[in-house]
Amino acid sequence: MRIGILNGGGDCPGLNAVTRAVVLTSRLRHDDDVIGYLDGWKGVLEGAHIPLGVERCREILTIGGTILGTSRTNPYKVEGGPARVASNLHGNGVDALVAVGGEDTLGVASKLVAEGVKVVGVPKTIDNDVAGTEVTFGFDTAVQIATEAIDRLHTTAESHHRVIVCEVMGRHVGWIATYAGIAGGAAEILVPEVPFFLDEVCDRLRKRHQRGQFSSIVVVSEGAVPAVGPDAEAWAKATEGASTDAFGHVRLGGIGAWLADEIERRTGFESRPTILGHIQRGGTPTAYDRVLATRFGVAAVEAVHDGAFGMMVALRAGDVVRVPLDEAVSKSKTVDLGLYEGVAGVFSG
Ligand code: F6P
Repeated sequence: MRIGILNGGGDCPGLNAVTRAVVLTSRLRHDDDVIGYLDGWKGVLEGAHIPLGVERCREILTIGGTILGTSRTNPYKVEGGPARVASNLHGNGVDALVAVGGEDTLGVASKLVAEGVKVVGVPKTIDNDVAGTEVTFGFDTAVQIATEAIDRLHTTAESHHRVIVCEVMGRHVGWIATYAGIAGGAAEILVPEVPFFLDEVCDRLRKRHQRGQFSSIVVVSEGAVPAVGPDAEAWAKATEGASTDAFGHVRLGGIGAWLADEIERRTGFESRPTILGHIQRGGTPTAYDRVLATRFGVAAVEAVHDGAFGMMVALRAGDVVRVPLDEAVSKSKTVDLGLYEGVAGVFSG
């Protein structure tokens, strides 16, 4: 067989580990040929690809980013895009495509399956928002990076008796904020799933001061928003006109700085924002992400050989299983409120 592989959407640690696993499993176990498309769906649209052999995959397991490159290109936003994808795959002699991506990339894959393209999906994203899998690789590394940052913020916040607002990624879900906030002992964790009342946040910070805790870490997810009211209106005004990508996603960011200003203005406590940004996506993957990506890569090749097209490999109860792609992309996996309210909530204030 000839298998094509692509990485789409935002990069994340573990992409090279999955590429390596796909190539080694294909070549060594099945004697397949593998090509890598460059920059996600853009590479398929342009027929831009490279051969991937065992040699090319040596020593990439630990390296962050992706040797294939990635983009947020949406073939459904390009004139004749889906037909060009199908004809280029055919022209390149590709029997099956392994699409490694988040909800956007896998959403395209799911639509292409309906048009007869043979695709198996592999879920990746630091956001951990892909439904159908309990975990995506990249998430553990991002949480580790954010937790280390929060640990460092604690010591400087304590020295200066400050509030430090740490803005983390996650798009419209608060998985990174919740995990890193719990692991880092944050006073407040604000997530998109539960709009916050800023006056209540300020009250809890004042109570900490009254108890003699003069520094606080507030972890805020980039997609968190104030609950309906004047603060929500002010924040909506502040973000008016934000740009969108080819999948219609607004570029997020800025809530941390806005919050730090408002907290200082309302409480009088000196406050500073820290935006972790793309640091959370860079660098070497944790051991957990390397293992998960490797398991997914092996499973994806086996799915191809079983003819399980239209399926995505996924982690459920510790096992790697196959779930229908269309089901996996039908909704975002939001934060478990039992964890957010039942666990993180216990330590707030
Ligand atoms: O989906 C991963 C992610 O890092 C989000 O957490 C974030 O909102 C977005 O990508 C940033 O995208 P870009 O790198 O295109 O600015």
